[in-house]
Amino acid sequence: MSTIISKQIIPVGSTFLHDVLAGLTAEKKSLSSKYFYDETGDYIFQQIMEMDEYYLTNAEMDIMRHQTEQITDVIAANPGAFDLIELGAGDATKSVHLLQSLINRQLEFTYLPIDISRHVIEDLEENLPKKLPALKVQGLNGDYFAMVKKAKTLSARRKVLLFMGANIGNMNVTEAKAFCKALRNELSAEDLLVIGFDLKKNPRQILAAYNDAAGVTKSFNLNLLSRINRELDGDFDISNFDHYASYDPESGSCKSYLISLKDQRVNIGDETIPFLANEHIYMEISQKYALTEIDDLAISSGFIPFAHFFDQQQYFVDAIWKAG
Ligand code: AVJ
Repeated sequence: MSTIISKQIIPVGSTFLHDVLAGLTAEKKSLSSKYFYDETGDYIFQQIMEMDEYYLTNAEMDIMRHQTEQITDVIAANPGAFDLIELGAGDATKSVHLLQSLINRQLEFTYLPIDISRHVIEDLEENLPKKLPALKVQGLNGDYFAMVKKAKTLSARRKVLLFMGANIGNMNVTEAKAFCKALRNELSAEDLLVIGFDLKKNPRQILAAYNDAAGVTKSFNLNLLSRINRELDGDFDISNFDHYASYDPESGSCKSYLISLKDQRVNIGDETIPFLANEHIYMEISQKYALTEIDDLAISSGFIPFAHFFDQQQYFVDAIWKAG
């Protein structure tokens, strides 16, 4: 185009731009679900967590409401002060129960929530002290591993890692194993990992959680296209894309796609991306696990599976793994 239009300045070397262009120029198009969570995405995810179909939140909340005493027992069984590091803390509504229980037990610890969203970390640092005045909290805004490494430079205390909310589900099984191995490498023998998994269950129930009637999950996916428009000078017409979710009971993988509704070209900055009618963009995986697969994952990544905490309906498990 020869028309001169004023363009937003895109930082050279921006990983968001780089990842988006790499994903959309690949033979099979994909976008990374880690980019769902801008301010609008955080808000839509809150709405997902309130949907009837999205059983995961209530299930893990049930564990936090009824079993934090037992989880606290496991954490308190090792001596000494510790850092409680939460990967992908979100609004911490679930972890608050565990934090309260650890405070009630008068254990000496600092809470270090890590989140990729700056907005989330700012909210936590402002609001958590109001709910839990006795809590020592220091937020870390950034990628999980960079921030875990940073936490290790801040203190030599033993570490208890929290990775709840089935966030591990956003990796396929191969990626999850590599991730857990890498996490294990950052930890020492006395350290613990508390990790949440969504369990394999009736496929209809799983699919409904990612294919809700009101279309909240659809808008969650489409928001990433709007975010590209806003932040990377894109011109997606989101009415030209539909959302499609699938669940495969055999592999346990639940996948979300956006489907191009027609032949179209989309500009992102100086790049033009062609889409064929019915071409898909792979957006997200939400992997479901059987209990045996969870224990296998622990062992194959160098952890020792130690305990399982289920909700009353057995939809979800928070597992505790020992690093040594
Ligand atoms: C935040 C990764 C646990 O996969 O269930 C919810 C994100 N995506 N609905 C999930 C999500 C669509 C969620 N996790």
